[in-house]
Amino acid sequence: MAITETIPHIIDAQQFTRSWMEDELFPHAQSLARIGKYSLGNGSLKGKSVALIFYEPSTRTRFSFQVAALNLGADVAVTENAGEFSSAIKGETLADSIRTYNALNFDAIVLRSPYEGGARDAAEVSGVPIINAGDGKGQHPTQALLDLYTMKEHFGQIDGLRVALIGDLKNSRTHRSTAYLLARFKNITIDFVSPPQFQMRQDMLDYLDRHNVQYNISNRLIDVSETADVVCLTRLQTERMKTLKVLPKKIRQFAIRNLLHGGDVCLSDEVMEKLPDSSIIMHVLPRSKDFGELPEKYDQDQRVVPFKQVEHGVSIRMALLEMLLA
Ligand code: NCD
Repeated sequence: MAITETIPHIIDAQQFTRSWMEDELFPHAQSLARIGKYSLGNGSLKGKSVALIFYEPSTRTRFSFQVAALNLGADVAVTENAGEFSSAIKGETLADSIRTYNALNFDAIVLRSPYEGGARDAAEVSGVPIINAGDGKGQHPTQALLDLYTMKEHFGQIDGLRVALIGDLKNSRTHRSTAYLLARFKNITIDFVSPPQFQMRQDMLDYLDRHNVQYNISNRLIDVSETADVVCLTRLQTERMKTLKVLPKKIRQFAIRNLLHGGDVCLSDEVMEKLPDSSIIMHVLPRSKDFGELPEKYDQDQRVVPFKQVEHGVSIRMALLEMLLA
């Protein structure tokens, strides 16, 4: 297994090998998938405790880690909005907060930090595993693992897939981690689709070049629809655009529409028509009504699987917690 350092932190997607994912994590997640409500769980983490420390909002990641830990019999303590509800508001450093959670004897810390590199900084001072649940616009490795698990469950193999990563690629930590994981497989083609000003950052393109991964850059989803096996959507991350935040709502919506000018990255009837019947349409969620990348009217289409991803998130997180702590 790739998580083999003295303290096995989960910080970024590059630390995972293909064989670890396919031979260890995914089968393990599959074997845990049937564990139901936490009261009926397998108890493998009885006596362990997990701290969930979230400096940014979350619905799925926080709750699925919580459900995963409870399913396995662990105790869980949660701080959401940690920037306000912890001593961070009094000026305490992240390092001191992590030292405190260590002193309180938690066995693992699931951390959503507000800045890129936050999980790594935490790992430097932590004697127990740090699990990166998103660090600013850096990475979100557990989301990417569950997304690849979803692909593997659907297609049986990941090699050879053509995957379109769509939306605000510049700010999306999930799609960054997914691109790193896909690079581990053979004959992958990645289509990066976004309005020009939200393209994937150059360091990722350089990484893919170094690892001989084929990719294309496009502004229009329709142009890659016919050949896509997997469509991975994400929203426009307006909270990371400081100037938008100060605008009144109406002007903000107008500005968002303008920001999107030059790209067409939302599902439409035309795109749905072109996407193969065998393809799947994923979304890391949340979807955005303003952005409109995944209109609800398509939810009944059998190719649309975001809530299946949420289910997979619990299995993957149970497997990770068990591998780290049992
Ligand atoms: C994403 C995140 O927080 O990075 N959501 C998630 O964890 N599933 C995506 C987003 O916020 O758009």
